[in-house]
Amino acid sequence: MSEEPIVGSGEDPPYVPDFDISKPTIARVYDAILGGKDNFAADREGAATFMKYVPSSREAALDNRDGLNKGVTYMAKQGIDQFLDIGAGLPTNQNTHQVAQAVNPDAKVVYVDNDPIVLAHGRALLARNESTLIATADLRDPSSILNHPDVQKMIDFDRPVGLMIVGLMMHFHPDEQPGVWIRSLVDACPSGSYFLCTDFIDEGYAEQKAIERASLESLGNGWIRTPEQIEAHFQGLPLIPPGMDYISRWFPEEPDREVPAVEDLEPHQRIMAGGIGYKE
Ligand SMILES: C[S@@+](CC[C@H](N)C(=O)[O-])C[C@H]1O[C@@H](n2cnc3c(N)ncnc32)[C@H](O)[C@@H]1O
Repeated sequence: MSEEPIVGSGEDPPYVPDFDISKPTIARVYDAILGGKDNFAADREGAATFMKYVPSSREAALDNRDGLNKGVTYMAKQGIDQFLDIGAGLPTNQNTHQVAQAVNPDAKVVYVDNDPIVLAHGRALLARNESTLIATADLRDPSSILNHPDVQKMIDFDRPVGLMIVGLMMHFHPDEQPGVWIRSLVDACPSGSYFLCTDFIDEGYAEQKAIERASLESLGNGWIRTPEQIEAHFQGLPLIPPGMDYISRWFPEEPDREVPAVEDLEPHQRIMAGGIGYKE
């Protein structure tokens, strides 16, 4: 693995976006919550709003990162060697390529995000290797992802794909029908593919309502969903054991592990839920 900075496909001149730093963005607020440095005052205010309503927001975000780690490790161990990580976020600890390449050094990853800051910082901060690219594209327009030159260059849709939408679905209201976008992506992946997804869950706990309030107040979006609504993200794909669950007690590599009852979890452990679907 070489250590040069990421340079995308290498075909276009470097894109230097003109960031509007007066308004918070999802990527930068999340970075601020995680304690990263790629954020501005408006983003830190947004993060403070999360902390005001849910003091353990950082731990909840770390639980979500843990879900990414567990899910990618599982998929890589099943032999998945190409990952499409949509809503990738700013580089942090244990990014998808590091997790996947710890299992299989040849695993390929394309990160997709609609916030150009992810491309800019990703290029600067992520370790470059021949197997990792970052594309600016939008989940709301799946063809912008599927037809992106870097996606086409790196992902072979004739072979199983590890499709990922982690920590992103909450930012779309159900009325936007995000399932239609997911369906296009799942349809583009062949059998043998996996789909890892996490979301804010709603089972009536106070911290769940509080995270929705925080997200709506700071970002203008960020809705909680019932378990049934989260399961619907998987488009009818069978879920690998133990199914969809709170990330804090979700262990795809040990589906029979004894886990605490939901009421015994800490508040931050009751915010993120997710699972992995398998395309037969
Ligand atoms: C909360 S972060 C999650 C980062 C990472 N996946 C994780 O779970 O730790 C959500 C990311 O999705 C990106 N995003 C928001 N809307 C998007 C869209 N329509 N298409 C692609 N990415 C989007 C944001 O810019 C942000 O980087």
